[in-house]
Amino acid sequence: MKKDLGIVQAVFPMPVLMVASYDENGVPDVMNAAWGMISKPDQITLYLSEPHKTVKNIRFSKAFTVSLADEAHVAEADFFGMASGNNMPDKFEKSGLTQTKSSRVNAPVVEEFPLAIECELQEIIETEHSHAIVGKIVNVMADENVLDEEGKVDPAKLNAVIFDNFRSGYYKVGDKVAQAWDAGKKLRFDACFVIRLSNVRFPCFLSILKQHTTEHLQFFPVLCKVTWKSANPSYPFCPSTQSASF
Ligand SMILES: Cc1cc2nc3c(=O)[nH]c(=O)nc-3n(C[C@H](O)[C@H](O)[C@H](O)COP(=O)(O)O)c2cc1C
Repeated sequence: MKKDLGIVQAVFPMPVLMVASYDENGVPDVMNAAWGMISKPDQITLYLSEPHKTVKNIRFSKAFTVSLADEAHVAEADFFGMASGNNMPDKFEKSGLTQTKSSRVNAPVVEEFPLAIECELQEIIETEHSHAIVGKIVNVMADENVLDEEGKVDPAKLNAVIFDNFRSGYYKVGDKVAQAWDAGKKLRFDACFVIRLSNVRFPCFLSILKQHTTEHLQFFPVLCKVTWKSANPSYPFCPSTQSASF
């Protein structure tokens, strides 16, 4: 039986994003942000509170990078979420990490984190409690040792940590359990056929067809035209409409 928990921040996992920026004197700062997500293929949106030094920096520099924190640097990542550049001007130096200036945007790239997203500030949407900082992604860079043979980021090599909002824990990402857009196929993937016989169309689902056609298929007229569509044709990843003739 489920128990009511009231209003809790119940999205799990949250990311552990390291938002790096320069102030007007070129001093780097990094903050920890869990409230952030890809909002378009080339866009990231972070929800940051106005008083943070990072927000002042981004307003000035119009750029930032977002790195994924990994297990090896979880202490530094947490430190970036506790200390503020507002009252600790050497916050980044104190972390012991190193940075280089991005060649694409006016923001630091933290060397030790395995992946960095380079962003130009696109927009700041102000709300009462926190601002949506919208960044246009101009490039993503990753250490070679976190890439697979196809050059894609392999989460198993990334060792990224995730944040648990229930009890404020950092967790390691666990084992892969399935492939997206594939595991569900065995449950709901079906194909809708349209069988046309002498210009009369009969809709028919593959699953139903499979049950009944094995013994009757030989009686299908040789010129019966069959077109098929995925069961959910509006879904962008479904195969396009195809036709076949028997
Ligand atoms: C796990 C964790 C997640 C955080 N997520 C956010 C967040 O999404 N947005 C935010 O405004 N502050 C967040 N914070 C708080 C800031 O990281 C913190 O206030 C930091 O000191 C700001 O640094 P700055 O003033 O140098 O920019 C988070 C802190 C922690 C520890």
